[in-house]
Amino acid sequence: MGARKKSAPAKRAAKSGKTATGTKPKAIVAPAAKPRAKAAPRAGKAKGLLPMVAGNWKMNGLLGSAKELKAMGAFKAKARLRCDVLICPPATLIAPLAKPAAAAGIALGGQDCHPEDKGAFTGDISAPMLKDAGATAVILGHSERRTLHGERDELVRAKAEAAYRAGLIAIICVGETQEERKTGWTLDVIERQLKGSLADAATAQNTLIAYEPVWAIGTGLTPTLDDISEVHAAIRKSLVQRFGEAAAAIRILYGGSVKPANAAEILKVPGVDGALVGGASLKASDLNEILNVYRS
Ligand code: 13P
Repeated sequence: MGARKKSAPAKRAAKSGKTATGTKPKAIVAPAAKPRAKAAPRAGKAKGLLPMVAGNWKMNGLLGSAKELKAMGAFKAKARLRCDVLICPPATLIAPLAKPAAAAGIALGGQDCHPEDKGAFTGDISAPMLKDAGATAVILGHSERRTLHGERDELVRAKAEAAYRAGLIAIICVGETQEERKTGWTLDVIERQLKGSLADAATAQNTLIAYEPVWAIGTGLTPTLDDISEVHAAIRKSLVQRFGEAAAAIRILYGGSVKPANAAEILKVPGVDGALVGGASLKASDLNEILNVYRS
């Protein structure tokens, strides 16, 4: 996979600060494209912690899904995996899956939480509730929440603070849209999301970052390996700038159309400390092939 080239309209658009269709990208603060060195420094793997493969089941799964989780656990034991495995099922399944997950050595996580611990918020779920049901982590700021529920960086940060209060690990998602990538704004967008969405209390123990390009989610498309490496290096640089050297241990996952067919090459990219997997995490037969990359 070679480096992606910008089209002529995209280059012109990047210069003028406008998109190829003439409108200014909404999410962008900086006024115009700025010169930037193409190759960002390559980040090493997060130090000290195991990589993580996390499955985001989204709004999929019923009680019968326990059999998939058990098959994942059986594989995990057999392959003696050198990675942490986390499954984030719908909130309704956390309590019923808690026992089989514990037996399988698989952690459970939520897919979202409210910034408040409790109160009159019909239909919402709080971080203490997730913890009480058996979760140890929660995905926050997923692009489906940002897009479909209008979640902004400040809200994601407040949710992360709620997660920490409850003793949950926060997996903070960031990622650019296709238009932002085409017009050269990817690293700026990611930087803005990191600055706004990460709470000051973030550490390698309570936080992971998931780089999920919006255009790669559920589409079968993935960035080039060089592009993934570049973004992960930029995320690492930003984390270390804000949180100091200890942030070298914060795990940075890649997510977006990770499949059995591409997992090995993506997970070996410098700076990639694991994956956040959507569709391919629903079936043990698929996820186990991905986990196989980390077998002993
Ligand atoms: P897919 O793996 O289905 O593209 O989904 C990625 C994702 O959104 C994980 O959070």
